[in-house]
Amino acid sequence: MSGLVLITGGASGIGAAAGRATAAAGMHPVLCDIAAFPSDAANVWRSPLDVSDEDAVGREIAAIEAELGPIEGLVNAAGILGRMHPPQRLRMSDWDREIAVDLRGTYVMCREVGSRMATRRRGAIVNIASIVSLSSAPVHGYGPAKAAVANLTATLAAEWGPRGVRVNAVSPGFTRTPALQRGFDAGVMDAARMAELAALRRLVEPDEIGRVIAWLLGSGASAITGVNLPVDAGFLCGVTWQAYGGLRGG
Ligand code: NAI
Repeated sequence: MSGLVLITGGASGIGAAAGRATAAAGMHPVLCDIAAFPSDAANVWRSPLDVSDEDAVGREIAAIEAELGPIEGLVNAAGILGRMHPPQRLRMSDWDREIAVDLRGTYVMCREVGSRMATRRRGAIVNIASIVSLSSAPVHGYGPAKAAVANLTATLAAEWGPRGVRVNAVSPGFTRTPALQRGFDAGVMDAARMAELAALRRLVEPDEIGRVIAWLLGSGASAITGVNLPVDAGFLCGVTWQAYGGLRGG
């Protein structure tokens, strides 16, 4: 693919890394976000875009295609991390917001852009799920939202595959982004503990996720659709070892 790739959540973390990786792969990234970009940022769509607002998404996608041409790739990296409260303390307003951005926002973007791709019979989408889509974690809104993103990915892959559109998900493990850093700074997440539990004994870097996203969009992955690929430094493969005393030395 050498065409236009729209990346939501492009102002930070994994979305910004997807922008760097797709540019390096010869694609034409356009970053959008609900937050403002620095005035000197390149490849950005300046109007703020809330992915959970379907009217705004419809308007902005039409404007982007009118100005820049057909979108050939879509990366849904906009997201908010989940609140780690037990159910009796998790406010329904927080649960609703996590579902609205992480699940509904992903669907709204896929629906608007994927339908256009299906009409043109060309396109690739990468949704950002999470390792919590494949296990459980103490995030009662975020976890179900991400599991649903994995299911949505397979559902849309089957829906649009016959019309040449591929839809895949990447499930990052603990990735050193501003969102995770906020958790470290607040003392609710422990970087050393997260690194120790992964088989590779480290966190994932945003650019490692970005490169996988670019690969899934490109011709190297032309027969891959409907998958949910963990990129987690071996967190999932090592976690059951905790019941046997943990990973061996190293
Ligand atoms: P981040 O906070 O660094 O970046 C997220 C971006 O999304 C921000 O620029 C934010 O302004 C934007 N955003 C938030 N709500 C939005 C909305 N309604 N509309 C448009 N943009 C919006 O976070 P990070 O870590 O880069 O996360 C990106 C995605 O990766 C999220 O879906 C997150 O759940 C997922 N993820 C992150 C992991 C990590 O360890 N950092 C692990 C697993 C998944």
